[in-house]
Amino acid sequence: MYEFSGRTLSEAVSKAVYGKPQVGFDTHALQWPLHIKKIEKLSDHFPFQRKIISGSTLFIGEGNFSFSLGLAKHKQAEGFRIVSTSFEPEKKLSDTAYENAQKLVRLGVTVKTGVNATKLDETFKTRRFMRIIFQFPNVASRSSVCGQNPNHTLITRFLKSAGNHLSNAGEVVITTVDSPFYEGVFKMDEAASKAGYHPPRVFNFNPNRYSGYSHQNTDNEESALDNHDAFATFTFSR
Ligand SMILES: C[S@@+](CC[C@H](N)C(=O)[O-])C[C@H]1O[C@@H](n2cnc3c(N)ncnc32)[C@H](O)[C@@H]1O
Repeated sequence: MYEFSGRTLSEAVSKAVYGKPQVGFDTHALQWPLHIKKIEKLSDHFPFQRKIISGSTLFIGEGNFSFSLGLAKHKQAEGFRIVSTSFEPEKKLSDTAYENAQKLVRLGVTVKTGVNATKLDETFKTRRFMRIIFQFPNVASRSSVCGQNPNHTLITRFLKSAGNHLSNAGEVVITTVDSPFYEGVFKMDEAASKAGYHPPRVFNFNPNRYSGYSHQNTDNEESALDNHDAFATFTFSR
């Protein structure tokens, strides 16, 4: 995952755009409306723990599997209702990911590796879930796809694919950093509309509420969350 920081927003964004800080860089000169877009969030947190015991759940892009493991350990969670997946193939899992995957299997959870969020039918055929959760989706690339940020393209294609695997009244859940920069990257409302969903509801997210969760970057084992203090969970339904 690419993360950019700076003493000011302007410095962080100019590093993201040009690879190094630009003297006098004006974020307002960018094409996307960085300075005006602000997420309207519900004050509530999405009740992951309650939801996990009320229907089947599919986790996508789990990285080191620590988020789904923490939830699956809950005494009321039933492992057989949970499927947890990584994008990485088994031979590329980190030691931590491998150990967490083994713990999930011991809890009765189905673990699958090499699952592409944008092609869920390849793995799940006609199977449906009450909710499909992708925590901090991120492609390790800045190259645009079809003229769009690759992360916007990822979540648009993910939402389209997930739509074929949702039960009636099912929902897709995506958590990201809550900042105008990330909102400009993902463009959640636009992705929802393109994929045939209502505009998302937005909840607070605090990673510290999830015991054992250690967020993992896309291309290394570190966490980029330490550089941020606001996160948002988006829920999408049709
Ligand atoms: C920032 S990491 C977050 C990992 C984990 N969800 C967490 O919260 O720690 C982003 C994850 O998205 C995954 N990813 C990227 N493209 C994907 C795709 N097309 N399908 C499924 N996962 C993908 C990466 O493999 C990586 O594990």
